[in-house]
Amino acid sequence: SCTDVTLSSGQRLPAVGLGTWKSSPGQVKQAVLAALDCGYRHIDCAAAYSNEHEVGEALAERVGPGKSLKREEVFVTSKLWNTKHHPDDVEAACRKTLSDLELSYLDLYLMHWPMAFQRGVELMPRQPDGTVRYADTHYRDTWVAMEKLVDQGLVKAIGLSNFSAKQIDDILSVAKHKPVVNQVECHPYLIQSELLAHCKSRGVAVTAYSPLGSPDRPWAAPGEPLLLEDPRILTMAKHYNKTPAQVIIRWQVQRGVICIPKSVTPSRIKQNLEVFDFEISEEDVKQIASFNRNERLIIPTIEKDGVRVWRDAI
Ligand code: A2P
Repeated sequence: SCTDVTLSSGQRLPAVGLGTWKSSPGQVKQAVLAALDCGYRHIDCAAAYSNEHEVGEALAERVGPGKSLKREEVFVTSKLWNTKHHPDDVEAACRKTLSDLELSYLDLYLMHWPMAFQRGVELMPRQPDGTVRYADTHYRDTWVAMEKLVDQGLVKAIGLSNFSAKQIDDILSVAKHKPVVNQVECHPYLIQSELLAHCKSRGVAVTAYSPLGSPDRPWAAPGEPLLLEDPRILTMAKHYNKTPAQVIIRWQVQRGVICIPKSVTPSRIKQNLEVFDFEISEEDVKQIASFNRNERLIIPTIEKDGVRVWRDAI
């Protein structure tokens, strides 16, 4: 069945999970509760989203002894932020996330980005000119430190996010514990065929972030045409008697890509999981792939006064 994907670790990862990037601390708890209550068993988190404490409150209400779900019934992913790449910082960062999420282990811990920022408490350490202060820790060394978390039982598996094919192979060349997932931006305007094929050949599953084209990304231009309003998707949605979001999520699930649509709206949260009762024809699968324009919406840096600077919200 399409409802979950088996990882190289043997773990089963539900093909649709709840995304939490951009979910405000005041909204994310009710979103996670709504998701768990309507059948989600996969929650995608990150320290950098600055809302893990509130996600943890929801998990604590529903998961664990005496609660409606057993811990092993829910798959929880989090991510190591760029300021925590130094091998001496990795364990403490993981323990902070575990404490915020009120969990004793994570199912999956991802390296959020391949690049390291200066160590410290600031999420976005910056130079006076606004550029980020990078650090010279190589992601291979960060990986080795993350492997220790598996050995210690703090995380069941480790993986990558925003890594290219070449960077994945670089990790594989040193890995004792293989990356089970690479999480990247992926949707009908950025179908990622080459990266998907590469990951498949290496036994790395792919999770799509911003699967709906992230209409709420902080830098979206007003009036910009939205993926969810693409007339070709609307026509297909009518044909299947589904919503555009459901068509897009189903398309990903059918091509073996895990999806983590973000929503804080209970009706949409529920709707986004209702993709296992219909099938998209082979022809329409191909047609959606033809919408590709290699358009990346989530670009972490921006040109400002002639220099590349990291955006604040990523
Ligand atoms: P909201 O959270 O207010 O419900 P992505 O996962 O690509 O980043 O997209 C997230 C955005 O898409 C959010 O703005 C979210 O709004 C919106 N969204 C999520 N699910 C749906 C849906 N089923 N229909 C329309 N918009 C949706």
